[in-house]
Amino acid sequence: MEIVILPTPADVGRYAARLVEARVRARPSLVWGLATGSSPTAIYAELAGAVARGLDLTGVRGFALDEYVGISETHPESYARVIRSQVVEPLGLRPENARVPDGRAADLEQAARDYERAIADAGGIDLQILGIGSNGHIGFNEPTSSFASRTRLKTLAPQTRADNARFFDDPADVPTHCLTQGLGTILESREAVLVAQGEAKARAVAAMVEGPVSAMCPGSVLQFHPRAVVVLDEAAASALT
Ligand code: F6R
Repeated sequence: MEIVILPTPADVGRYAARLVEARVRARPSLVWGLATGSSPTAIYAELAGAVARGLDLTGVRGFALDEYVGISETHPESYARVIRSQVVEPLGLRPENARVPDGRAADLEQAARDYERAIADAGGIDLQILGIGSNGHIGFNEPTSSFASRTRLKTLAPQTRADNARFFDDPADVPTHCLTQGLGTILESREAVLVAQGEAKARAVAAMVEGPVSAMCPGSVLQFHPRAVVVLDEAAASALT
């Protein structure tokens, strides 16, 4: 695990965006794993600037990490909508090349299997972008998730629902379930870049980087990843020894 500590959240976004840009220039048909939430927004905004200067992402295929179950595709907080507004439209990915797990499927287990198959058919994920939850989750693999897990239906932890209530009008509107890539799926990415900003992430970051590898901190599984970069601002790094 490579740890990069930078002064500000904006520096984190810029650093990770440059890394993505370098990988796309080296491989225009990159298969890109996409996180949602607050952590990656500066990456996507930086990349929009690179696209305006000529970076071409039209050959890139994207796979979101996760999706809520039970909210409509047009809900502003559905990850299908977030990926469209933060990635597909500003960065010029082809809409058909940006997939999100189908959290509205009648058969969610089949939707999860289909998603795994689609990732495999694309040749696997070259570069996975990740954030980390305050409870140590990556994707929505909550504490106690199996290291071997694949894309599946998960119950969101109370801590995650509380953390994500800021995106919803009413905390009761935060979905209770999701489809998420598994830890096994994430571990198979050829490169993983996790970004974290702010003191609220410091404890989870320390557990992920310096703690024992434990299902109680799912992010710690990245200690087994052959090529993982963790990009932090000083506040997120503040609990590292
Ligand atoms: C989002 C995801 C989650 C978030 C994590 C941090 O697709 O998979 O693991 O990265 O919950 O969320 P933010 O970035 O909003 O603090």
